[in-house]
Amino acid sequence: MSQKSQICINTALYMVVIPENKNLFPHGRWLVCKPEDYDVRYKINPWMDLTRLPDKALARTQWMNLHHHILRLGGWLEYVHHEEGNPDMVFTANAGLVKGTEAVLSRFRYAERQGEERHFQAWFESRGYTVYRVSSGSFEGEGDALFAGEVLFCGWGFRSDRVAHEEVGHHLGVKKLVAVELTDPRFYHLDTCFCPLTEKLALIYPGAFSKLGLEALGREIELIHVPEADALQFVCNAVVLGSDVIVPAGCATTYALLAARGFRTYPVELSEFIKAGGAAKCLSLRLDQR
Ligand code: ARG
Repeated sequence: MSQKSQICINTALYMVVIPENKNLFPHGRWLVCKPEDYDVRYKINPWMDLTRLPDKALARTQWMNLHHHILRLGGWLEYVHHEEGNPDMVFTANAGLVKGTEAVLSRFRYAERQGEERHFQAWFESRGYTVYRVSSGSFEGEGDALFAGEVLFCGWGFRSDRVAHEEVGHHLGVKKLVAVELTDPRFYHLDTCFCPLTEKLALIYPGAFSKLGLEALGREIELIHVPEADALQFVCNAVVLGSDVIVPAGCATTYALLAARGFRTYPVELSEFIKAGGAAKCLSLRLDQR
């Protein structure tokens, strides 16, 4: 089936399905964006280097491979069009944060990404979501706010602000919010160093957090510590589909840690996206929370 007809069928089905009907999509619905205008054209995190540009053709192949893995493992995909002039739009985790039929739109820290907001807003609205905006501070969506069951884990310090997280929690009726400080600029979004696997278990690179933050996380959820070498390959930036986990390539130690806890790992090469500071999870936004 062509990409276009698949998108049409997805959209048509979507219109007649209650968005939060979890049983229809047991491995979740995810928003992705084809890397049609993906590039590194500015530097807003330590990974971006204007002298080390991504290979566009390879990026497309790597993205398609990730896309196939999500579908093959039972995930359902929705697509937002890649609007020209927004080279980071492919990182849909930063579109906002969704719970049920409500979405809080991102309010990007840097002007370079603020142009994406109206496109993501239009997408959410076209799918019938009630869209909220935060009124102060910045908020970069699921990049800095991840659910594990009913608990919302938030990261602040580089891209998102605590005031904004409070507002997000309020809009989405979050029962418990745990906000922690990120301290290492290489791990500037929470999803680069923390990954909930179940309600009770998460992967973490502890070196990315303040002492207090790490303690707060440890009180809330069991943590599997990953080594720095794997963290630098973005291993925490994984897509979790039940007990299947799509992980960036080259992280054998962490794959073994996951296998010991009963997870199957599916490594995918995402080198061209790591050049912009993102990998598997950054490239997808969860549209229904577990
Ligand atoms: N170049 C993008 C930025 O700096 C990468 C975003 C990665 N996304 C994420 N959810 N961690 O904003």
